[in-house]
Order: sequence, then structure tokens, then C-alpha cells
Amino acid sequence: MKKRVRMMGVAKPGSILIELLAVMAMMCPAMLVAQDKAPTADGGLKSVYGKRFAIGAAIPGADLKNEEIALLSKHFSTVTPENCMKPEPIHPEEGRYDFTGGDALVKMAQSKGLTVNGHTLVWHYQCPDWFFVDNGKPAGRELVLKRMREHIAAVAGHYSGKVASWDVVNEAIDDGKGYLRNTKWTQCIGDDFIAEAFIAARKADPKADLYYNDYSIEGGGKREKTLRLIRELKQRNVPINGVGIQGHWQVGRVPLKDIEAAIVAFHAEGMKVAITELDIDVVSRSASGANVNAREKGADDPFVDGLTPEMQKKLADDYTRLFELFLKHRDKISRVTFWGLHDGRSWLNSWPRKRTNHALLFDRSLQPKPAAESVLELGRKQ
Ligand code: XIL
Repeated sequence: MKKRVRMMGVAKPGSILIELLAVMAMMCPAMLVAQDKAPTADGGLKSVYGKRFAIGAAIPGADLKNEEIALLSKHFSTVTPENCMKPEPIHPEEGRYDFTGGDALVKMAQSKGLTVNGHTLVWHYQCPDWFFVDNGKPAGRELVLKRMREHIAAVAGHYSGKVASWDVVNEAIDDGKGYLRNTKWTQCIGDDFIAEAFIAARKADPKADLYYNDYSIEGGGKREKTLRLIRELKQRNVPINGVGIQGHWQVGRVPLKDIEAAIVAFHAEGMKVAITELDIDVVSRSASGANVNAREKGADDPFVDGLTPEMQKKLADDYTRLFELFLKHRDKISRVTFWGLHDGRSWLNSWPRKRTNHALLFDRSLQPKPAAESVLELGRKQ
């Protein structure tokens, strides 16, 4: 009613069009709701970037400190469970599912107006051995395929309508010369485990966007192999909607040209492109990708007392160049998700060895770093 009075107030007396609009608005409250949706200028990442693409953070679960929840709600529009929806925690034994962590996360996300991206249905890591064993012997194709389908039906079915997307298959492409990574999945089922996983995911959840997710697929051989995989899946009419470029990069070495080429190439194949696990390592490591099995020795901890101003600037520059690229290709990018909410929560503090990392936009006190300020400023200008 208040709206109607305002509308009537600006109408020239006798304006039939305005009168008509006012009557329609009374009959259709959605019109009023739409009018009230003015952008909130609270200065968070999501208010700056949210209209271009979803902006997210991986979180361990619902059990966060109040200040962390406040940081999450201010800056992010979507979350990814860091571990609790992976096969190991969610399906520890055949037929026994544990949805506690995932359910709590979904409930918290919903209460804060955040969407959820399921991660991940099929992966060679954090996947229990029972999938691949039959009475103490290696299980055959039919049994493993049946178990994989059951797993996907149960998990994606349970979260159907509650997640916006799924990383259906994670890291299936070989880092070396081969096409697909040699894993228990390929050994037991064969290369078509990927197609079968997507088919099962679509059956279980008719609406979620279904992604293939991997690291280092922006460049070199892995980009070509990803394109081959997408084309093969499309040829077989397999329901795939997008590709997730994980984005575990290293300071001073972010492969911007490759990233751009990959975004363009995947999109040209009809894929939505998401950056699913963004972080920029500031402590040098020898692993160039993000193979969780890669471990390194060393006790070096150069930034245990904090980042130097020079390194803060380097990190800010890298993040700014990246977000310039994301903005340039906003029509192709569905989501950009950081792998962690703040530096204290980053997996890079323990992978590939223990060290004090500073790979995200917010520091351990949850304060925005120069990188955050710079990314925010860039978004506001554009
Ligand atoms: C990592 C988690 O962050 C860690 O807590 C866990 O110990 C190992 O897995 N690529 C992925 C993610 O797809 O699932 C990984 O997450 C990081 C690399």
C-alpha cells in the first residue's frame, strides 16, 4: 500500500498508464518485491561481484565462530563443503551414510541465504577402500559400477533441491602423458566411469548444474585432455553443464594467459566455467598442481610472523590481475570460490607440508588484506 501511495504520488493526475500500473501492483505483490530489491551497498565482495558471478568460500562445516559467520555472510553468496560431502566422511561403509556434517552445513547456509555447491561425488582420494573390494579381492566392474551409482543416487538424491551444483567427478585427468589418471575407478570400471557418474548424478538431481572439476586444466596437456573429455561426453549426450578450474596457484606465477584461453575454450564447448578452489600460495612449493598426495619435506616457514609489505603487494597484484580477467569474461564465468574463508582456515597451512600460509583475501584476524581492498576497488570501478 505504501508503494502504491508513492506511485500515485508521482503520477500526474489522470495518467491512465500510472493508475493501471498501480492497480496491477496491488494485484501482483511480486512487482512490489522486485521494486524493493535495491542493491545493498554494504561493501562486501558479493555486493560488488555478485551480479557478475557467484562468489564463494569453502568451509569445513556449520560449526564456525560468530565472527566467521559474519565474514561469510558479508562477502560471499555461496559455499562449498571442504570435506564433509566427500565419499569418505559421507559413506564410510557400504550402505551406511553419515549426512550430519553436510546437513548442518546446508541448514546454516540456507539460514544465511547462501547457496551450496556439492563437492564431490567421485574422486580417487578421500574415498574409502570398500568401494573396490569384493570379499578381500579386487571387485569387478559391475559391482563397483553398482556401488558408484548407489552412492551417487543416495548422496545427490539426499541433497537434491538443496545444492546449486555438484562437482560430479574430481581430478580424473592424468598429470602426465596419459589421458585419464590411473585410479581404482579406471581400473575397476574403465574410462566410462566418468560418463556413468554424470548420468547417475542427473538421475538423482534433475536440476543441479553438473561439473567436471580439476587442477592445472587451464594449461598445457591437461587443457587439451579436458576439451577431449567434454567433447566425448557431449557426443554421448552425457549431461554435463560445466567445468571447474580449481585454481590453486602460486604468487608471481599465476598463468593468466592459460587461464584466459581455458575459460574461452571451455565456454566455446558450451560449458559454464567456474573457478572452484581459488588460492594463491605465498610460500614456494615444488608441486605445481594440487595433487593432495604430493608431500614435501622442509621446515622453512618464511612468513610465520606475517606477510612482508612487498609480498602483500605481490599477492594483491596477482589477485587483481585475476579478477580483471574474471570480469572481462563475466559472461562465461558462473562462480569464483576461494578454498577457505580466511588464511587461518587455508589447507595450504598443511599441504604439501606444514607452514604458515597467507593465500586468501582475509587474514587470520579476519581482516581484509591489501589484496581484498584491491579486488574490491577493482569491482567497484567496473
Ligand atoms: C582438501 C581439503 O582442503 C583438506 O582439508 C583435505 O585434507 C584434503 O582435501 N583439491 C580438491 C579439494 O578438490 O577437495 C582438496 O581439499 C584440495 C585440492
